[in-house]
Amino acid sequence: MNIQWYPGHMTRTRRQMQESIRRVDAVCEVVDARIPQVSRNPDIDSIAGDKPRLMILNRIDLADPASTQKWVNYFRAKGYAVLTTDAKSGAGVKKFSETVRTLLADKIEQWKQKGQVGKAVKVMVVGIPNVGKSTFINKVLGRKSAKAADKPGVTRGQQWFRLESGLELLDTPGILWPRFDDERTGILLAVTGAVRDDILDIETLACKLMELLAKHKPEAIEERYKFQIPENWEEFDFPGYELLMMAGRKRGFLISGGEIDTERMARILLDEYRGGKLGRITLETPEDYAEQEQDDGE
Ligand code: G4P
Repeated sequence: MNIQWYPGHMTRTRRQMQESIRRVDAVCEVVDARIPQVSRNPDIDSIAGDKPRLMILNRIDLADPASTQKWVNYFRAKGYAVLTTDAKSGAGVKKFSETVRTLLADKIEQWKQKGQVGKAVKVMVVGIPNVGKSTFINKVLGRKSAKAADKPGVTRGQQWFRLESGLELLDTPGILWPRFDDERTGILLAVTGAVRDDILDIETLACKLMELLAKHKPEAIEERYKFQIPENWEEFDFPGYELLMMAGRKRGFLISGGEIDTERMARILLDEYRGGKLGRITLETPEDYAEQEQDDGE
């Protein structure tokens, strides 16, 4: 994927979404459960206005279950309905219609009182690229695949899908941009594969990932690469790089002169993390945002 977000495209998508949102009853946001906050569109709250919201924490097969539960609680406390899914296998997807109906129970009851029984519940599904939105929609629809070609700035026809349960789904009109406001978000999006690697060179990215893993789940690194992470690793001059060297040395990745092939190790680390070979690891927790939210609340 190589997408550029231009102000013109963003303005157009925002306008199309605001128009579409008027026609739906709820907004369903798909995020990557390993980085639930970073994988959100930064403007979705203002775009969605006061529509009821459903959060889909997708890729739970790759995320740490305890962290996923924390995020479920976090979003529920903010008033969202929350569903956890593995869209690839389909786990959790069956509960979608029921969750939407529970979220909109009052509204559906009002319709009933007015005699509008069986009125279609309309939901818009949004998500930045690569969170698994198409896979999720396909699984909800019970079909294999039918992905429309994505091109930013190109208006696609409105994509409405009707479910057997009486729900109607609208896919995002246009492509939603991710956050790109700081280095941390860029790194988290890149290590999980949501944006292309080339925002940073591969070794720098792997060093950052190594630091994140040493912080969030050191035992995963220790078990997979068979070395002990020193207790004082954070005090190293280049912590991620030194840990990458330790892993590379253990794997026997040497180049001429006995130097460690850190580039090879970097690729392997990124591939293995993305493929779930290091286990289920979440790279941000609600606590990461506690301080910021306290500041915002003051
Ligand atoms: P998008 O519409 O949001 O851009 O994402 P899309 O559905 O195309 O999914 C992007 C990739 O993520 C796909 O992998 C898809 O299979 C995978 N994926 C989606 N949901 C999940 C999930 O819950 N768990 C896991 N592990 N993977 C998920 P791909 O390699 O691009 O394609 P494929 O070879 O898997 O078909």
